Amino acid sequence: MVKIADIELGAFPLLLAPMEDVSDPPFRALCKAQGCDMMYTEFISVEGLIRDADKSVQKLDIYDYERPIGIQIFGANLDSMVQAADIVTEARPEVLDINFGCPVKKVVCKGAGAGILQDIPKMVELTKAIVDRTDLPVTVKTRLGWDDNTKYIEEVAERLQDVGIKALSIHGRTRKQMYKGEADWTLIGKIKDNPRIQIPIFGNGDIDSPEKAAAYRDRYGVDGIMIGRAAIGYPWIFREIKHYFATGQLLDPPTTAERVAAAREHLDRSIAWKGETLGILEMRRHYTNYFRGLPHIKQYRKVLVSEFDTEKLYATLEEIGEIYSEASV
Ligand SMILES: Cc1cc2nc3c(=O)[nH]c(=O)nc-3n(C[C@H](O)[C@H](O)[C@H](O)COP(=O)(O)O)c2cc1C
Repeated sequence: MVKIADIELGAFPLLLAPMEDVSDPPFRALCKAQGCDMMYTEFISVEGLIRDADKSVQKLDIYDYERPIGIQIFGANLDSMVQAADIVTEARPEVLDINFGCPVKKVVCKGAGAGILQDIPKMVELTKAIVDRTDLPVTVKTRLGWDDNTKYIEEVAERLQDVGIKALSIHGRTRKQMYKGEADWTLIGKIKDNPRIQIPIFGNGDIDSPEKAAAYRDRYGVDGIMIGRAAIGYPWIFREIKHYFATGQLLDPPTTAERVAAAREHLDRSIAWKGETLGILEMRRHYTNYFRGLPHIKQYRKVLVSEFDTEKLYATLEEIGEIYSEASV
């Protein structure tokens, strides 16, 4: 049984990665329904949180059916981090997660996200301050290092464990790599071989099929796997991996009817949570994956990613369901 503090996550948990503008409540509901064991919010700026910025505060919204869930924050200033920890603590997620991995410039240049990988003592100091401040279990998500010459993750894992974090998720790339090349889990495996490490170590990076999940689980000995991009528009990845782990068999992919139903539910939830305009806009990034592989889908996708009329969107989804019903595909 894998546990973060006393939160039980099953024998080999699959986690949904925090993803900005993706891992929101509408999307999380779909992933949860497909067997995801633990989820995180998209990252929330501590500066936004302590200034009560609407966009940041809304990201604290969590629902009972999502539990266990972690709220993820990012920042670089110790006072702000600690104040934000108080706000997160009040929201009562199961876990407070700190982002030390985001590679994007606007975050890194302020010393937040992966920026902190250039200053490990500060990373440890910030983490300790948050652990000391909150009664929630604190977890960290990070990368291997800043660049090829500074892959300090083995040392980082020990030091963060020593200041009290309860789990560590590692994306097998450096900041410099951004998303290029292939994620390398070798060092993640080495951390699992370190007898001093007692906390769960979750591997992250490029898992996009049941076979790869099984291979990486066996090769690197991680306690669970965190999945990001492969879940976008394809929440079925969780049930497919679970089924494969349980039976050694590959599940059939979702039917067109299931894809349409999922896209519809996602759109419903998106509009309900964000309002019509934003709900419709933010849903656009998901359609390509929901309908990937359907022949001649382009004309329908065009409508889905440009239309603002809700009725027309639903009608288009219905049409996709009819045109691509199993008999005709
Ligand atoms: C659109 C997008 C947004 C992301 N936002 C976050 C974020 O808010 N917090 C975070 O820790 N990582 C974020 N990430 C990184 C992912 O959590 C994950 O580490 C990365 O995508 C590698 O995993 P994957 O290969 O399974 O996608 C984001 C990634 C993507 C693609």
